[in-house]
Amino acid sequence: MTALLTVSDLQVGFQDRGRIMRAVDGVSLSVDRGRTLGVVGESGCGKSVTSLAIMGLVPQPPGVIQGGEITFDGKNLLALPPKEMRALRGGRIGMIFQEPMTSLNPVYTCGEQINETLRAHGMSAPDKARARAIELLDLVGLPSPAKRIDDYPHQLSGGQRQRVMIAIALANDPDLLIADEPTTALDVTIQAQILQLMKDLQNRTGMAILLVTHDLGVVAETCDDVVVMYAGLVVERASTASLYSDPQHPYTIGLMAAVPRITAKAERLDTIDGTLPPPWVQIPGCRFAPRCPLATDKCRAEQPPMREITPGHQVACWFAPIDERITTP
Ligand SMILES: Nc1ncnc2c1ncn2[C@@H]1O[C@H](COP(=O)(O)OP(=O)(O)OP(=O)(O)O)[C@@H](O)[C@H]1O
Ligand SMILES: [Mg+2]
Repeated sequence: MTALLTVSDLQVGFQDRGRIMRAVDGVSLSVDRGRTLGVVGESGCGKSVTSLAIMGLVPQPPGVIQGGEITFDGKNLLALPPKEMRALRGGRIGMIFQEPMTSLNPVYTCGEQINETLRAHGMSAPDKARARAIELLDLVGLPSPAKRIDDYPHQLSGGQRQRVMIAIALANDPDLLIADEPTTALDVTIQAQILQLMKDLQNRTGMAILLVTHDLGVVAETCDDVVVMYAGLVVERASTASLYSDPQHPYTIGLMAAVPRITAKAERLDTIDGTLPPPWVQIPGCRFAPRCPLATDKCRAEQPPMREITPGHQVACWFAPIDERITTP
């Protein structure tokens, strides 16, 4: 079976005072129908730029797609005429953006914003569109949808606004939902409800979900597979079960160690020393080497290729498979 969405060796740069900074530097990933792929990595590693590129929304200029392929249901999205791309966006590909507070337009009611999407994709009869908008608001668990449909965004709570965003994303029954940090701005109980809602909808419709997050707890609960990004690259790719039971890249291991655990005695949280290199800094070998406790001269000189360690589990580290003594602190 071919995947619904395949991204191969995607490279995206941004022009900045005469030079091009590589924000995404060879990202490959794929998502199957009915599955959820998590994309994790620390702030600035290129998660949002990757999802914007899939939707054809990288601002150009300053952005430049410098290479790679994006295939959705057999179509090469990078070569698609703008009109067809617009039809896909909000149609077969739904999206939820990182900032729910700013992604809804404050001067239109929720109903008007859902109608806008429905109208753009062919539902022109106003009464039909209104009925569908109420149905969608009900589906995403907004209380009294027939009343709230005429509310403006500021009349809703953050969690309710996020539900409206999901309703807009789902308006045209997408095959793929791209959700960029859909719950980051919400408190944990609302976060759990929204993630559960996405799962339920997926079970009903069989849509594929690309879930961008920096939260490994969210990944553990919702994703089937995960890619870990570091400085514009994928450094590890695995099923969620395999990644959690047997993380291989020192960066992934560091991320996991930085997740708080409840223990009887107070523990200091492990952190990964150093920071992500800015995109204009050229690092010849492994990009994580300057922060890696295992790095050798080889790591600093040569970029490790992605290698399969166990079936379906790939990692870009010269040390993998990493010894168990290192993975269990
Ligand atoms: N419009 C833009 N112009 C210039 N540089 C950009 C633009 N958008 C993103 N970048 C740069 O691309 C890199 C990757 O950014 P991106 O937003 O994808 O990070 P992210 O992984 O989504 O981080 P976060 O977790 O904070 O959302 C960053 O260095 C960022 O500064
Ligand atoms: Mg982002």
